[in-house]
Amino acid sequence: MSNFPVTKNPNSRISSVNWDKLGFGVYFSDHIFVSDYTNGAWDEGKIIPYGPMQLEPTNCTLHYGQTIFEGLKAFRTKDGINIFRPYNNARRLNKSALRVCIPPYDDKKLVEALKQLVALEYDWIPKERGQALYLRPLVFGTSNFLGVHPSSDYRLIVICSPVASYYAEGLSPVKILISSRYARAVRGGLGTAKTAANYAASLLAAQEAKELGFSQVLWLDAVSRRFIDEVGAMNIMFVIDDTLITPSLSEGTILEGVTRDAVLTLARDFGMKIEERPVTVEEIFDTHKSGKLQEIFGTGTAAVISPVGLLSYNNEKIVINDMKIGPFAQKFYDTITGIQYGELEDKHNWNVSIKM
Ligand SMILES: Cc1ncc(COP(=O)(O)O)c(C=O)c1O
Repeated sequence: MSNFPVTKNPNSRISSVNWDKLGFGVYFSDHIFVSDYTNGAWDEGKIIPYGPMQLEPTNCTLHYGQTIFEGLKAFRTKDGINIFRPYNNARRLNKSALRVCIPPYDDKKLVEALKQLVALEYDWIPKERGQALYLRPLVFGTSNFLGVHPSSDYRLIVICSPVASYYAEGLSPVKILISSRYARAVRGGLGTAKTAANYAASLLAAQEAKELGFSQVLWLDAVSRRFIDEVGAMNIMFVIDDTLITPSLSEGTILEGVTRDAVLTLARDFGMKIEERPVTVEEIFDTHKSGKLQEIFGTGTAAVISPVGLLSYNNEKIVINDMKIGPFAQKFYDTITGIQYGELEDKHNWNVSIKM
């Protein structure tokens, strides 16, 4: 087991948690992992109490957004903890780092840090099915200057947050608005990186969609506005004629989801036909008309699987699978969550398990 130095929090806040109303990203556990990059190297790293940090007004990240993050979950099992696919998140953090000139962080060291932190915060891992301890690694520039250039110093932090499922509706189908006005990512841009700017770009569109009664925005490519990229904080999948279809990653505008990869891997295990290729809005509306569109669902760490019940584009609306959860969405959800909670065989060694 890893052995980062620990400064214990003398003022635990765990008694203030309402475990029946966790929400998402509302409560934060007592400790964080921190590592600083100065003089061209990351320090050893340590676990310290969660608390405020001092920043100067010229902190470069506040101005130029040189920051990346990750999101993954740890689950309470009958005899310990499962962290779901942390190496994938550690590798993706480094891909994001490369895109915005942040120095990489050793992926094995990050996973060791996650393991020690979740073991320390065991009491913060919620006990109910559907709940988990969400882990948020974050890296940002810590140098103080004005002028657009990369920071010299950086800080990596891992925050833990006990969460219910992302959507208040649970696995019930959501309504999605296809944005024909705003763009999230462009070819050659930041779309494949998990960096703050992508989320800033999405805020106004998501706010307007919410005002109209939709849960999320589905993004199209920024040039032709025909090709489907992804949804809010999820990748998107279609079941057409029993084939699982999802936009390919090759344009560099979509985040390479860990859940997306899990679903594609399971679909292969189930013997499903899979297509990773460009998908247009016309194709989805046409296959809906011809009765071949069976299901649409989003995939992501927060919700795992989120069935799409209604899709709206330029005032045209289609209802998918009668606003019901489809059998494919249900099967992927049951299988992934079964593996996460240690109830189903973990054939692909996705979990990093800790015995408690
Ligand atoms: C923009 C975006 N796309 C897709 C995803 C899904 O990725 P993952 O399955 O790794 O959570 C996320 C969530 O992290 C996201 O923020």
